Amino acid sequence: MTYTFVTLFSNLVEGYFSDSILRRAIDKDLLGIKFLNPRDFSNNKHSKVDDTAVGGGAGMVMNSQPLYDALKSLKEEDENVHIVFLTPVAKPFVQNDAKRLATKSHIAFVSGRYEGIDERVIETFADEVFSIGDYILTGGELASLVMCDAISRNIDGVLGNSDSLTVESFETSLLEAPSFSKPKLYEGLSVPSEYLKGNHSKIRSLKLAMSECKTKFFRPEQLKKHCQGVK
Ligand code: ADE
Repeated sequence: MTYTFVTLFSNLVEGYFSDSILRRAIDKDLLGIKFLNPRDFSNNKHSKVDDTAVGGGAGMVMNSQPLYDALKSLKEEDENVHIVFLTPVAKPFVQNDAKRLATKSHIAFVSGRYEGIDERVIETFADEVFSIGDYILTGGELASLVMCDAISRNIDGVLGNSDSLTVESFETSLLEAPSFSKPKLYEGLSVPSEYLKGNHSKIRSLKLAMSECKTKFFRPEQLKKHCQGVK
């Protein structure tokens, strides 16, 4: 998988790949990371990339020309690139999207800054448009990293232990049961006693009961789906 981050601020993104799981995935050639800065495509003599919005409104909008030309060059280089725009005005990104997008060969994340991206650029180039939640970030870079991280975990070989994908929250409609580390007794607090007895069928039932409990408390709408047999 190749990811291209289309951003005015590549240094905000770069650091995330300097360590841990995604660093190892890059070292194993499972992931490749590229950056494309719209500023490098600006026709303005000061390399300006923002402008006031046509029709008024507060703040500046990302100019169409630099971003349009950057994406045109990206498409010319790889016509199969899957272009994703990050904006709060979009469908929410969920685990099924992460799994589906993990099968692509090249994804470009387009991060907006200022008050937004010229809608015509989105209309022309977007394969998909995503929001990562109902709140407004200062730009799309964090959102693109969130998506990139969630997608990458679903690429074969990126996680050390592929088992860890199957029992997780959102792989079913239930949230995952709580996990415990050693020691069994810590600061006077014990792990559930059933975990210590080694009866795996009982541990499984207990984990399911705790999953249902957590889901009921934190995400009651998900529990409803579970009871209706919807994933
Ligand atoms: N840019 C600003 N806020 C965002 C959000 N919630 N999701 C995706 N991109 C964004």
